[in-house]
Amino acid sequence: MSGSSNNNDGSATVYLGHVIDPVDEGNYRDIPDGALVVSKTGKIEAVGKWSDLCKQYSTGCEIVDCGRKLIMPGLIDMHIHLPQVTQIGKSGDTLLGWLEKYIFPAEARFKDLSHAEKIAAWFFDELACNGTTLAVIFTTIHKEATDAAFRIAAQKGARAIMGKVMMDKNAPGDLIENTQNSLNESEELANKWHGHDGGRLLYAFTPRFAVTATDELLDQCGKLWQNNPGTYMHTHLSESAEEVKKVAAMFPQSRSYLDVYDRAGLVGSRSVFAHSIYLDEEDLQVMHKKNCALAHCPSSNFFLKSGIFPIDRVKRAGVEFGLASDVAGGPQMSMFGVMKDANFIQPQIWISPRELFYRATRGSARALKLEDQLGSLEAGKEADFIIVDPTLKNACPKDILEHETDEILSTIVFIGDDRMIDSTYIRGRQVFKRQDVNGKATKPQEETELHKVRGGKK
Ligand code: GUN
Ligand code: ZN
Repeated sequence: MSGSSNNNDGSATVYLGHVIDPVDEGNYRDIPDGALVVSKTGKIEAVGKWSDLCKQYSTGCEIVDCGRKLIMPGLIDMHIHLPQVTQIGKSGDTLLGWLEKYIFPAEARFKDLSHAEKIAAWFFDELACNGTTLAVIFTTIHKEATDAAFRIAAQKGARAIMGKVMMDKNAPGDLIENTQNSLNESEELANKWHGHDGGRLLYAFTPRFAVTATDELLDQCGKLWQNNPGTYMHTHLSESAEEVKKVAAMFPQSRSYLDVYDRAGLVGSRSVFAHSIYLDEEDLQVMHKKNCALAHCPSSNFFLKSGIFPIDRVKRAGVEFGLASDVAGGPQMSMFGVMKDANFIQPQIWISPRELFYRATRGSARALKLEDQLGSLEAGKEADFIIVDPTLKNACPKDILEHETDEILSTIVFIGDDRMIDSTYIRGRQVFKRQDVNGKATKPQEETELHKVRGGKK
């Protein structure tokens, strides 16, 4: 149990259910008759067995009995593209051809602000219904569309690390920026949004990848990032063999693809590199030494046939990493599906459900240098959590919640998707609640046996 004593001023909300909370790659806290106490400021006040906490919290607090459902930390998606939700599932080529055919045309439409607003609203609703409580997001090159995405995220209560894409070469004409404008607009957006609402929204400088950047853009972006402490730098790295070959030809003076970014001052704590498949040992050592984060995107690597993330070498090198959907490179937003793919894509290595759960929650928060605030259910952290009911999915055994917790976790990881999410909370605010076709909550809070014993108020 964790929690401070005698601080119940009657304003907290207590969620009762089966708490599963990641500790590290191989361990989680398992509290079947658990309670999560959330203060009115949206912080976790206490977590533990309800039998230990009820004396302190049953008077005055609102009690939400989730019945036989699971209470877990919200899922973190370390790399996703907002404008690409309209392109999910469109395949037929590898990375560079797919970008030309589907992605660049879809992104060019974000010049139209009303289109951009409509898609951004849809995107943040989709994140919420998938149980994703933090996403690291690419928008497009458009400043107004990116500003709108921040505004909509702010209104909807979403948590995001987000930035305007920067591209000044090798893209269709309507997506190529003037280098200085790209830098100026990125800086303006960072000044406006980084740290918004107590850090719920954070800014990431977002050069798309080395292929679409001049040396000047990369160098100046490195300086800009260094001059804005606390912000992130988010880009793609070594995703496909064809891309790596192209970068080697474009930057002959660099030792490796990573070195292109390193020379520009773009490698450091709070840099996030999506994919990172084709790395040598020196790259891994540099990443470890400079404390940067990798976003492993297994569903995308499958879908675009990009290659296999060297998970064992990354772990051996001690490089921090988490999981990401890379929508629309990946054809799903559900981080449960991404967890499954992270296991499936490895031909020889078994990745346990415990580790997959950790990688999509606390492991990602750690890689993003946010573990002190997010990623697990501990007193003092932000109350970002999900209520999960595996039985909402037809294929799931109806008695699954009576099974061993490792089996529950395995079931969620391997057959889970958005249909298992009952509700999603960010900083204590409900941002999604499942409805039935009549607009009612699918399963009204039942009067469970446990609740009667507990005698909490509804
Ligand atoms: N590399 C450069 N841009 C992209 C993109 O939009 N998606 C993916 N998967 N890789 C990229
Ligand atoms: Zn991507």
